[in-house]
Amino acid sequence: MAALILGIESSCDDTSVAICRDGKILSNRVADQKVHQEYGGVVPELASRAHQENIVPVMNAALADAGLALSDMDAFAFTRGPGLIGPLLVGASFAKGLSLALAKPLIAVHHMKAHVLAHFIDDPIPEFPFLCLTVSGGHTQLVVVRDFLEMEVVGQTLDDAAGEAFDKSAKLLGLPYPGGPLIDKLGREGDPLRFSFPEPDVGPLEFSFSGLKTSVLRFVQKKRASDEAFVGQHMSDICASIQHSIVSILMRKLAQASEKLGIRQLGIAGGVSANSYLRKQLILKGEEAGWEVFVPDFQYCTDNAAMVAFTGEKQFAAADFADASVEPLARWPF
Ligand code: KG4
Ligand code: ZN
Repeated sequence: MAALILGIESSCDDTSVAICRDGKILSNRVADQKVHQEYGGVVPELASRAHQENIVPVMNAALADAGLALSDMDAFAFTRGPGLIGPLLVGASFAKGLSLALAKPLIAVHHMKAHVLAHFIDDPIPEFPFLCLTVSGGHTQLVVVRDFLEMEVVGQTLDDAAGEAFDKSAKLLGLPYPGGPLIDKLGREGDPLRFSFPEPDVGPLEFSFSGLKTSVLRFVQKKRASDEAFVGQHMSDICASIQHSIVSILMRKLAQASEKLGIRQLGIAGGVSANSYLRKQLILKGEEAGWEVFVPDFQYCTDNAAMVAFTGEKQFAAADFADASVEPLARWPF
């Protein structure tokens, strides 16, 4: 009989619990944290505290949705890293407690690998090898996926992540955290070619977003100096143009990587893969270039425990278990 895996995600500011059986997600509950909005970014201590408050009710809701009890579970999977150490500790300690109390195995899941495997939750699923552009708040990586548990980072950012480029640009425009979804929303009404920001000149499989951030800063300073109201009045065009610049960088790199590696099954994963402009551009470019493109369901793009439970099930099948001494890792190489 197929194993029942309970997954826990707490690497940043979303507390999530999901249950997976036989590759199918039976429930996936996510509690986000509004407490960070007024600080312009995630405050790790507040995030840890909110995870502690959320984790039991979120788990109970996930169990109720699936009509199951904790004692039905065959293993407990949790995000070991990378992420914020305080939030990771909450999830890790909770998972260890469940594993000890119920005498069921513990599974330590890599957050970025789980983002990649989100592609395999629902149809259509890619075949191997598959090239995934993983774009989140902390990472921008090109990952070659040869099998569920066999993947390799072949390129990454030299400085900021794509999500940071969205969030930091939004902050410069005076928008609240997290800025990515807001730039997406405001940019929908704007002209993506109205303003231009430079593309970096880095190696074929490398990314860089710090130059873009500086040019957005200079742009905002210059416009505000001559007209205080300019940014507010042209917000949609500015958002659309920044979004266009970030997405152009991502698409160009993906195209170069596909060419270099000879892989034509391509996908995007992580929080930024929820961006509507990126999703649209990937589909358009895919038709043009003859790629087969994959975009995960919205609920599996941003942080969620479904991807953790799903990855946990693959590790369960491979008997890849952790023992009770396992520690969370803020940084965890692939
Ligand atoms: O994967 P994720 O939820 O958390 C991390 O593992 O970091 O990614 C969060 C990032 C944030 O930078 C957020 O602004 C960005 O994903 N994001 C978006 C959108 N939704 C989330 N960026 C652009 N457009 C969106 N619709
Ligand atoms: Zn993430």
